[in-house]
Amino acid sequence: MSDSKKSKFNESKWALVTGASSGIGRAFVNLLASKGFNIVLLARNVQRLNEAAKEVHGAYGVQTFVMSCDLGKEGAAKNIVNDLNENEIVITTLVNNAGYGDLNSFMSTSWDSNQKQINAMLCSVTELCYLLGQRMKQQEEGWIINVASLAAFTPNIPGMMYNGIKSYVVNFTEALDLELKQYNVNCLALCPGLTSTNFPKAMDAEALFAQAPKWRWMTPEKVAIEGYRAVKKGRSIHIPGKLNRVLATAYNVIPFSIKNELGRRGLIL
Ligand SMILES: NC(=O)c1ccc[n+]([C@@H]2O[C@H](COP(=O)([O-])OP(=O)(O)OC[C@H]3O[C@@H](n4cnc5c(N)ncnc54)[C@H](OP(=O)(O)O)[C@@H]3O)[C@@H](O)[C@H]2O)c1
Repeated sequence: MSDSKKSKFNESKWALVTGASSGIGRAFVNLLASKGFNIVLLARNVQRLNEAAKEVHGAYGVQTFVMSCDLGKEGAAKNIVNDLNENEIVITTLVNNAGYGDLNSFMSTSWDSNQKQINAMLCSVTELCYLLGQRMKQQEEGWIINVASLAAFTPNIPGMMYNGIKSYVVNFTEALDLELKQYNVNCLALCPGLTSTNFPKAMDAEALFAQAPKWRWMTPEKVAIEGYRAVKKGRSIHIPGKLNRVLATAYNVIPFSIKNELGRRGLIL
């Protein structure tokens, strides 16, 4: 920190959580705050971010910083890092969690909408790892949790980019972990199955997801705690819930032809 301009923030550990306004991101905010992390909360809905920030500040006394940002927009990651630098906030834990599903098929969707999905869930994730990971590597300290999905292993739905994007997140995160582990930076691909959040509503698919039996669903709090424990242990991939791990293994061993047929019939997760 420069002498002339002291940061209003203290130098204890900061975590950046994207998609902090709801669901799994919100659960990570609560969990990390309970462990003493100061939190940068990022999403588009500022009102919900402010509520979450106020709540964790009140409950745990940690510092918070709210960032309104649409990760689907070009240049989002650079703007975030500029904002962090201006406020002299050094991120030691990055939770790339923001995301959404889109049931519309690739060819029937406008390119603008496809591009936003790629920007929000693939480009921003990758660029934030790059920009914030440099400092972690130098300091030889850091955790990166990239929230992927069980969908990285499940059958592809015709024209849906989601599974492909999440497969990329898993493979990229494992490669990043192989590069950064020697610098004491742990990178984890967290692959939740069905989790009770705003996800189905946000993708306008509540009726479809309602078909899944209750016992298939996990709470966002359970997903976050499993992710926290896994990154702490230095795992590069973790699928929360035994049943989800069994499903991922099964999808890895069944023949491609059967897997593709299941996808063609619209089997989600
Ligand atoms: N729920 C599940 O069953 C499930 C299963 C596997 C994986 N996941 C993954 O878990 C992650 C979190 O989802 P969730 O289940 O917690 O859903 P959620 O409750 O809908 O939360 C999604 C979060 O992402 C933020 N977000 C969405 N688009 C954004 C954008 N363009 N820019 C910035 N923030 C954006 C939303 O905030 P704003 O709307 O305020 O921007 C919200 O905070 C996602 O990556 C999802 O793919 C979910």
